This record gives sequence, C-alpha cells and structure tokens, in this order.
Amino acid sequence: MGKALDGVRILDFTHVQSGPTCTQLLAWFGADVIKVERAGAGDITREQLRDIPDVDSLYFTMLNHNKRSVTIDTKNPEGKLVLEALIQKCDVLVENFAPGALDRMGFTWERIQELNPKMIVASVKGFGPGPYEDCKVYENVAQCAGGAASTTGFDDGPPVVSGAQIGDSGTGLHLALGIVTALFQRVSTGRGQRVLAAMQDGVLNLCRVKLRDQQRLERTGVMKEYPQYPNGTFGEAVPRAGNASGGGQPGWILKCKGWEADPNAYIYFITQAPVWAKICNVIGKEEWATDPEYATPAARLPRLKEIFAEIERWTMTKTKFEAMEILNKYDIPCGPILSMKEIAEEPSLRKTGTIVEVDHPLRGKYLTVGNPIKLSDSPTEVTRSPLLGEHTEEVMAELGYSLDQISALRVAGAI
Ligand code: COA
Repeated sequence: MGKALDGVRILDFTHVQSGPTCTQLLAWFGADVIKVERAGAGDITREQLRDIPDVDSLYFTMLNHNKRSVTIDTKNPEGKLVLEALIQKCDVLVENFAPGALDRMGFTWERIQELNPKMIVASVKGFGPGPYEDCKVYENVAQCAGGAASTTGFDDGPPVVSGAQIGDSGTGLHLALGIVTALFQRVSTGRGQRVLAAMQDGVLNLCRVKLRDQQRLERTGVMKEYPQYPNGTFGEAVPRAGNASGGGQPGWILKCKGWEADPNAYIYFITQAPVWAKICNVIGKEEWATDPEYATPAARLPRLKEIFAEIERWTMTKTKFEAMEILNKYDIPCGPILSMKEIAEEPSLRKTGTIVEVDHPLRGKYLTVGNPIKLSDSPTEVTRSPLLGEHTEEVMAELGYSLDQISALRVAGAI
C-alpha cells in the first residue's frame, strides 16, 4: 500500500529532539527524509545518555526512525555545493539550529529561494520575534516561558516542569502540521514559504486553558474549581492547580490499595456531573445524591476536598485496576496512574503499533513509541534509525555524483 507522503523529499537538517520528532512523523507518513549530519560527529544525541558504549543512544534511535543519514560538512565550500544539490532536489528543508546558524552557513531564505523557489523552509526556534528571539532554548526553558511551569505543581511548592516533552516533541508536532499545510498550499500557488514554530508559542498553545483561567481570575477574583477555593487565597496570576482537572468536571488523584509501597498505586477520578448519583452509590454515600449540600455541581465546589477524601476511602480498598473495572461499569470517568514499566508491557499498545519493538544492528532489540497518529490508508511501519552517514553514497549517487567524485569529496573532508 502507498503512503500519504510518498514522493515528498525532506532535507532534514534537525538535531536533538524538537526537529527530529517532526521529521520522524513525516517519515512515518511516507516522506523520504534525508538527515544531514556533520561527518565524524553527527547529531549530538547519538552520544548522549548512552546505555551501551559506542552504540547510538536510545535518545537518538527513538527520534530518528525511517530516515536516511548523509554526512556533509556544510561549512566546507565543496560540502556547500552538495547541500545546494540537495536543496534543489527536496521539497522541504527542516531545521532547528540556534537562531541565525543557517544564515551564517550561507543558506539564507533568499539564497534557498534562488536555488529552489518551491522549497518550504520549516524552523523550530525557542522564541518568535521579540526580546528573546536570539536565545538558544531547550525543553524546560520553553515549558517555563510558555506558562506550563508556573501553573504546574502544588500551590505550596515551586513551579514544576512536566515529564511530557511539550516544548520539544510538542513543537515538533506543531511544525509537522505547518509543513503539510504549506505543502497543501503549494499545490495551488506553486511557491514555497517559511514555516516557523516557536517553542514558547507551542507550549502556550497547549496551556490555552490557563490563559482562559487568568482572565476568569481577573474578572471574578476566584476560581471555584481550584483546590485553593474556598479556604485558600488567590493572587494576581493563575495559581498551580495540583491535580485539579483543567475543565468543568472536578477531578483529583486518589490513593488505591497498595499505595504505601507502590508509588503509582493511584487513580485519577472525575466527579462528572451526569454520573454523580452512580458515584454516590458506588462509594456507599447514597444520601449525597439528593442532599442539597451535595446534589448539584455548584453545591459541591466548596466541598471538593471532603468529597474526594470520602471517595478515596473507597478507592483505597481496591487496586487501581479493580477500581477501573468497577467505575467503568457505571460510566464514571477515571484513569489508572500507569508506570512506564506497565505501559511498556501493555499488550494492547503493542497490538496497535503504539509501542513497537525494533531491531538495531549494533544495539539489538529495543522498544520505541510508534506513530501515535493512525491513518487507515497509510499505515506506519517503523524501521530503525540510520547509522551515521549510512546513506551518504546512496544519496550522492541519486544526486548524480560518480564514485570517483564521492571519493574525492571524502578526501577533501566535504562529506
Ligand atoms: N556541517 C558543518 N557545521 C554544522 C553542521 C554540518 N553538517 N550542522 C550544524 N553545524 C553547525 C551550525 O552551523 C552551527 O555553527 P555556528 O554556531 O558557527 O553558526 C553549529 O553547528 C551549532 O549549531 P547550534 O544550533 O548552535 O547547536 P548548539 O548545540 O550550540 O545548540 C540548541 C543547540 C538546541 C540549543 C540550538 O540549536 C537551538 O536553540 N535550537 C532552536 C531551538 C530548539 O530546537 N531547541 C530544542 C532542541 S531539542
């Protein structure tokens, strides 16, 4: 079966996490992704957090599946010519260098347009235009500058960053959408364009509900679904919400049987209004279903702590999976706190290709996260990440270079 992005060629000039997550997605949808790396070194993540000496790290392998790797020294004049040939052959150039690096290399937007007016140039940067536009940025800087850290954690503690890589992988996802949208527009205009996804913007987009709450707070001075209500105080900015749900149905994380020994014996429990009577039945507080102090969502808001404490008395008598089974029977929304070990071993995730086992010639078998987006007519087959420069000769030959020319470029240190 063909793939959605068959025939699309991506010049993948990305490194670390944000850019590579984007181009990996495009590769999974069928694009030919040619990753350009520096000879001898390659993407810095090849050697970071290594678990096996001299073997590409899981950090690298898990972000660079289904790609080809070529080595080019793009600061060498002959190397630049190879990159120019690639620019002429590809549809999209994706990069996430520090601001200005591509220009310093000599590949400005104007120069790229001269070489290939149809080329789409897609970039991840830490910040958009403004006071921080020249800054280098990593994941947690973006989480802090995008509003995630100030709103995550508990009110009596410091800001907290999330384990979800919303700054890097989140921005990679945003960029991928920008690229396919630009490819779609190119069908009618025949022209390329620049696509920018700034990490601060991507994180803020994912924190949209917190900007909603900021404005609600400024208008009313209080947020009744936050754990600070009714006994705590509210300041000028949206506070950290602990484990409160970000929406209109209050929720919290509750202990389950075994919590004393297992750090993940917890469940997320949502007191969704339409199933309130069922919740009361399950936990043995039938009278709350009709008691005016508890019967309506508005009446419950000042009592959420007491209500969740009572529900927890029930969840502590069940394992998280037993609680799930019972609550699901009554359509009560809830979710177990799953450890990475439990997720890695979950058979249904293996079956859908969300967790995939991949074989690598140097490291052997390892697990990775497959394509989380499933297209019925464009299924994803995950193949291993390339070794450094594994496809240099193959790609150079496709560009029209002879074997002698390739050898000469190697000797000159251009590839
Ligand atoms: N041949 C020759 N030179 C190459 C090359 C190649 N194939 N590939 C990269 N380089 C050069 C670049 O031109 C640059 O040179 P310059 O500084 O002389 O202009 C140099 O390598 C380093 O690039 P840079 O991007 O500055 O790397 P860094 O390791 O110092 O910084 C980041 C890393 C992630 C902080 C930075 O790239 C960045 O802020 N990127 C944008 C935001 C981002 O994506 N952050 C998240 C990463 S997960």
